Amino acid sequence: MNNLFTRRTWLKSSASLLAAGALTPRTAQTQAPQPAQPPASAPQDADRARRMQWWHEARFGMFVHWGLYSVLGRHEWVMENEGIPVSEYAPLAKKFQPTPHAARAWARLAKQAGQKYMVMTTKHHEGFCNFNTKLTDYCAPKQGPGRDLVAEYVEAARSEGLRVGFYYSLMDWHHPDGARCAQDEDARKRFVEYTHGLIRELMTNYGKVDVLWYDVAWPLSADQWESERMNKMVFELQPDIIVNNRNKLPGDFSTPEQHITAETNGRAWETCMTLNDSWGYQRADDAWKTPKQVIRNLVACTRDTGNYLLNIGPKPDGSIPEESVRILSEVGHWMDRNGPTIYGSDPCQVRRSNYASFTRKGNTLYMHVHFWPGETVALSGLMTGVKGARLLASDRKVQVQQDKFRVRFTGLPVEAPDHPVATIAIECESEPTQDSILVRKEKPRDGI
Ligand code: GLC
Repeated sequence: MNNLFTRRTWLKSSASLLAAGALTPRTAQTQAPQPAQPPASAPQDADRARRMQWWHEARFGMFVHWGLYSVLGRHEWVMENEGIPVSEYAPLAKKFQPTPHAARAWARLAKQAGQKYMVMTTKHHEGFCNFNTKLTDYCAPKQGPGRDLVAEYVEAARSEGLRVGFYYSLMDWHHPDGARCAQDEDARKRFVEYTHGLIRELMTNYGKVDVLWYDVAWPLSADQWESERMNKMVFELQPDIIVNNRNKLPGDFSTPEQHITAETNGRAWETCMTLNDSWGYQRADDAWKTPKQVIRNLVACTRDTGNYLLNIGPKPDGSIPEESVRILSEVGHWMDRNGPTIYGSDPCQVRRSNYASFTRKGNTLYMHVHFWPGETVALSGLMTGVKGARLLASDRKVQVQQDKFRVRFTGLPVEAPDHPVATIAIECESEPTQDSILVRKEKPRDGI
């Protein structure tokens, strides 16, 4: 390594700047979330860290939206957004006749993409249950599918070694009490018993369930849903499970939707996102993200120790749209080489670059370059010394030059050495942090 000034001088100067308050290694703006959790109150709060450990390490999951709306192929909100009456919508239940064990291909694709868990819609807002239930006939085994689609999914995910999550929508457009429960106390009681009953079945009949992913709590409050009692039942039946925050209680993690926004105070979070613009199958939706966008999103979540739950919307026969297969396969090839920069990584404070984003493990900084600049890649304001660097994909050693303001990686190939994002593993002397305005403030100005 060819340092342009000695490490000692640099450390001395940065130490005195720190003492003078000129440098804050972690500015408020760039504060990365810490893994600690708020103080315990409910019994399940006490063992949250234990229950969530696998999930924090996993980082990347597959969301699956599949139901009667898939038959129409116009998005999972089609029933409400086209104002389709129940009498016209419900017959789709007979038309829904997917290929047996379609879920096996989902699980294979998830595994190949580097996703470690899956979350499938057991019941979406339309009210149709993909699982077997004693509480309604509007469920897969008693309708077109003639089988328990949730059981098939659980078997498929488990056999690929993936964790199993259940999405469950509290809002229901089919159940007669689904809207009037807000005004009519008898209806509320019936609907809450029905809802708790379905959740009880889900938590009882499928072995170990790893995630319960509630959705839309309209039109009731947490008190009206009896959400405390709901979660209590869930944790009694599934002591290791984690739950989200969409039954109007905080649960174990937050669920930013279609955007990447880190939680504060160490609270866990998971960004859920579509691959195009629809969760459920929408035949004509061609707004596909590129594999590069997906990887950049995954890196952005990872940097701040969040998870990324990325959706597929299978067709009515259960097959995965070709574009989704193509995108996730490419992401998977990248993950084969880059997985170690994602799984189980630490919070990363370094974030400023015009062409890269970052993750960290211990003292190793991973610079994920999405717009490869050419023979030299540079980074400003790194507050630690660099011991060495290599291109992750080829393990090729990279030349490093560092001064107070800048570290440069030189002699690199003109063309990006990996696609769609090329990663440089940077071995640092201590935990890498970046002072994003050091250069602006301190770099000598020689002009007039
Ligand atoms: C929203 C939508 C729903 C989708 C969910 C996924 O709540 O209503 O269709 O399932 O987000 O996060």
